Amino acid sequence: MGSAPPIRILGIETSCDETAIGIVENGQRLLSNAVASSLTLHGPYGGVIPEIAARAHVETVWHVMAQALEEARLTPEALDAIAVTQGPGLPGALHIGLAFAKGLALSLDRPLIPVDHLAAHLYAGQMSCPELEPPYIGLVVSGGHTLLCVVHAEGRFELLGETRDDAVGEAFDKVARLLGLGYPGGPAIDRLSEEGRAEAIPLPRSTARHPFDFSFSGLKTAVAHHVQRLLKSSKLGVESSELPTPNPHPPTPNCLERKEIADIAASFQEAAVDILISKTVKACHRTGLTTVVVGGGVASNRRLRTRFGEEAAQKKLQVVFPPPELCVDNGAMVAGLAYPLLRQGRVAPLTLASDPNLCLETVGR
Ligand code: KG4
Ligand code: ZN
Repeated sequence: MGSAPPIRILGIETSCDETAIGIVENGQRLLSNAVASSLTLHGPYGGVIPEIAARAHVETVWHVMAQALEEARLTPEALDAIAVTQGPGLPGALHIGLAFAKGLALSLDRPLIPVDHLAAHLYAGQMSCPELEPPYIGLVVSGGHTLLCVVHAEGRFELLGETRDDAVGEAFDKVARLLGLGYPGGPAIDRLSEEGRAEAIPLPRSTARHPFDFSFSGLKTAVAHHVQRLLKSSKLGVESSELPTPNPHPPTPNCLERKEIADIAASFQEAAVDILISKTVKACHRTGLTTVVVGGGVASNRRLRTRFGEEAAQKKLQVVFPPPELCVDNGAMVAGLAYPLLRQGRVAPLTLASDPNLCLETVGR
């Protein structure tokens, strides 16, 4: 008797500024992962403009699908199911992806599988480490979310804590803007930090009251105050009332030396990493779990990966990071997670609506 034919799923991700389509076989084998980003269109505004993101999805989604199929050397008829991010995300952007997915599912007569974006970020860990067995701790670190949960079998999540203010990626982006590093800020801070000293500036490791909640606004404000002090003490400085709060066109601190900016970037990054690691280790102690999966755009941060690796060795934890291309928004993680969902029969009707506020299928806190 021959083995069962492989199940190939195409996953569509349009929750923010990436138009991404991936094809994955049996939830594990990556056949393609095509991405088009509208990032350069948002750069001048210092952040993602929802209408621009949605329009860019409309313009590029066909092209990205063609690229994904070509990379995988497949025709649309070879696909077994169509998966799509249902939420959370920008309403207009989600809507475009879902409408496209429905059209494909209808025309090919294939099942439509809705996927939670945050669950997909965590599933990326399962794709890079197939032997991973729930339960384990999940840490989602993206531009819109920062949360700690226990990942149980059958796609159930127990929320342990989340951010009370900014998401950590948002904090990276806002601090980068303060430093005149452009958008998106995470990769820029990651790179520039290599030239800076992580201990140069004492910054608060602000903790939210709940043991597993996060808070990053105090850290961001401390960086803003530090920049203000530096600018004031320089000849070209701004007045004390002009606290450089984040805005689309911030005063670029071009009177600061590159070395000074690198020190601020490295010190901020170190504080953010400290906060993420300490809460995660606490969650491991509290639950007795020793495996952690980190997902989301910030999981591609090199300092976070190194420090977590060191901590894991010291505390005898297993910390799984997907490869960077599966950390940032991508279609492969959507296609991957859809495989176990399809096996559970979690197929949606074509009347499915997107849900911008979807946030894991939690079992309370
Ligand atoms: O998961 P993601 O691609 O989109 C959302 O679901 O939000 O995450 C985007 C976030 C942005 O805030 C971006 O600045 C951040 O991830 N990011 C990074 C790095 N690469 C992306 N933050 C820190 N270091 C990086 N290398
Ligand atoms: Zn994401």
